[in-house]
Amino acid sequence: MREHTAQTDDRDRVRDAADIVRIVGKHITLKPRGREFVGLCPFHDDHKPSMCVVPRKQIFHCFACGAGGDVFTFVQKYHGMDFREAIGYLASETGITLTPWRPDDADAPDGPARTRSDLLGATALATEFFRAILRHAQHGRAARDMIAARGITDAMVERFAVGAAPDRWDGLLLAARDKGISADLLVDAGLLKARDDGSYYDTFRNRLIFPIHDQIGRVIAFGGRRLKDDDPAKYLNSPETRLFDKSSTLFGLHLASRAIQTQRSVVVVEGYTDVIACHEAGLTNVVATLGTALTTGHAATLRRLCDTIVLLFDGDDAGRAAATRAVQVFFAQPIDVRIATLAGTGSKDPDELLKHEQGAQRLNDIIDGAHDAIRVLFDDLRSSMTGRGVSGRARITEEFVDQLVALGVNTRMSPVRRRLIIRQIADITETDWQSIAAMMPAGRKPARTRTRDHDDPAQGPPEVGPREHLIGCILCEPALLASATTDELLLLDPERFEHPTTRALAAAILGLQRDGRAPSLQAVLARLDDDDAKSAAVAIATRVETETEGRRVFEHFRAVLQRIARDTTREPNAPDANDMPDLVARLERTRAARETFGVETRALPGVARSTREHGASS
Ligand code: UTP
Ligand code: MN
Repeated sequence: MREHTAQTDDRDRVRDAADIVRIVGKHITLKPRGREFVGLCPFHDDHKPSMCVVPRKQIFHCFACGAGGDVFTFVQKYHGMDFREAIGYLASETGITLTPWRPDDADAPDGPARTRSDLLGATALATEFFRAILRHAQHGRAARDMIAARGITDAMVERFAVGAAPDRWDGLLLAARDKGISADLLVDAGLLKARDDGSYYDTFRNRLIFPIHDQIGRVIAFGGRRLKDDDPAKYLNSPETRLFDKSSTLFGLHLASRAIQTQRSVVVVEGYTDVIACHEAGLTNVVATLGTALTTGHAATLRRLCDTIVLLFDGDDAGRAAATRAVQVFFAQPIDVRIATLAGTGSKDPDELLKHEQGAQRLNDIIDGAHDAIRVLFDDLRSSMTGRGVSGRARITEEFVDQLVALGVNTRMSPVRRRLIIRQIADITETDWQSIAAMMPAGRKPARTRTRDHDDPAQGPPEVGPREHLIGCILCEPALLASATTDELLLLDPERFEHPTTRALAAAILGLQRDGRAPSLQAVLARLDDDDAKSAAVAIATRVETETEGRRVFEHFRAVLQRIARDTTREPNAPDANDMPDLVARLERTRAARETFGVETRALPGVARSTREHGASS
């Protein structure tokens, strides 16, 4: 959306100030490769680093799934952010002050189309309210007592933004009313509940509040621990909202992600207070799930940050059950999953262990001594083998192998891991490894495979033909456009492109030229709204750059033009100068449409008179 000039300015300022390597690098671990950086792509199930970030051009591009764009595209896609949310986040990251945003009437805060930004406003308000309550002489006393009794330091209260919900039904309700925030918004954010009579009450009452942040540190939900033992629910979490997907959120990740990246490992514990105690003790790569088992959603986030996940469970039973699930979640992922438990330490959880003398040292030892999760499966296999006859053992072995195949051992696991697993099964079952390997030939697929749904050919990425090369050349070397003759410019007429994506690219290039701006990749990305078009822009530019090795773009451009000229003379309805009024009329229409949407426009371009000599340099 480019409704306001101010917004376009904001966008340019934020983009210029944001370093795409740093921003993307907060989300996935990047390694330098030449002048670029690579990491595991978060937009598909990537098993080798396919995501490339190019600092020189401030773009990212995935060679496997084709996702690509600028820093805005990345954070919007990664977090499902709308543009306002993305620019808000990037502005705060870069210290840029945005032009104050004024909602239009069509987008009134009470309208049904509540944006994520509105919900974030509500959770931010609630965070401040709970923090103020914690400091309140009377209303915060019980919570402060609990904090003191548990030995949570002031530093941790600050770092985790711990707060308190007062012992009443209308604390947050009244505070929001004071600030003119609508109750409906707080209901959508999960912070208020509606009664049948149309009145509202606070979701969180008389609880110690642990805000739940997203990966980049914005509060998206809350966990509340009861302050009175007779309260039936020990912990209460926010319901799921547009901001909060419980099954993919990890408590403390925003504070842990840097340590997770530098240590290349993460420790997942069970409780909020365990995370806080670990961070206090200097173990800062620790996070917790929100009272659930680890999911593929968690796994997807974590494996793009590090190589090893240690699941640290309170007791042995929970640990064993969870290990089996974890093996299923992680089996096919290129990440090591290790399991450790506190069973036998005499402490019920890490928080308690850390209160003992040498607690941190003991906890570290337990983490270092964690077992590979797959061992749990092998242990089960071993015990089911004992006391069986030959045919029973053969059947169990086959079933076990089938189970592994179903988990993706053949299709998604590295050959090295696969071979290790085969050898281990052979060991346990006292079979030669060739027989085991024969049971899972590399081609054998699990029964259920995921395929990409591309029924509509127009939905796939565009083919890269000569015209796409033309676009790519211009994106690499915008000055080329000025060197093009009128006839050549006609080749970029958007309506001559069949694929909607390339049509959008051509339109963006001509639109920029008409506005008197260079159609650089950056500028085109900023102008496009559609994700596929952004990806295609990056893919096409990258393709041309690879083929020309970043040089000889001008020669390539000329060669492509000649090729098109040859091809089009054979086309029955080849463009000629007589098409010109038509194109001009269409450009006029586009401009009129843009004016309707409030975009500043300038005089029509030099489409008809752009015969200047090229100013391309290589
Ligand atoms: P625990 O009961 O072990 O929590 O549950 P804890 O942190 O040790 O509790 P206290 O405060 O020290 O007594 C571990 C986690 O499971 C979730 C919470 O996320 C909690 O931190 N949980 C637990 C719930 O969601 N609901 C519950 O009723 C209990
Ligand atoms: Mn616990």
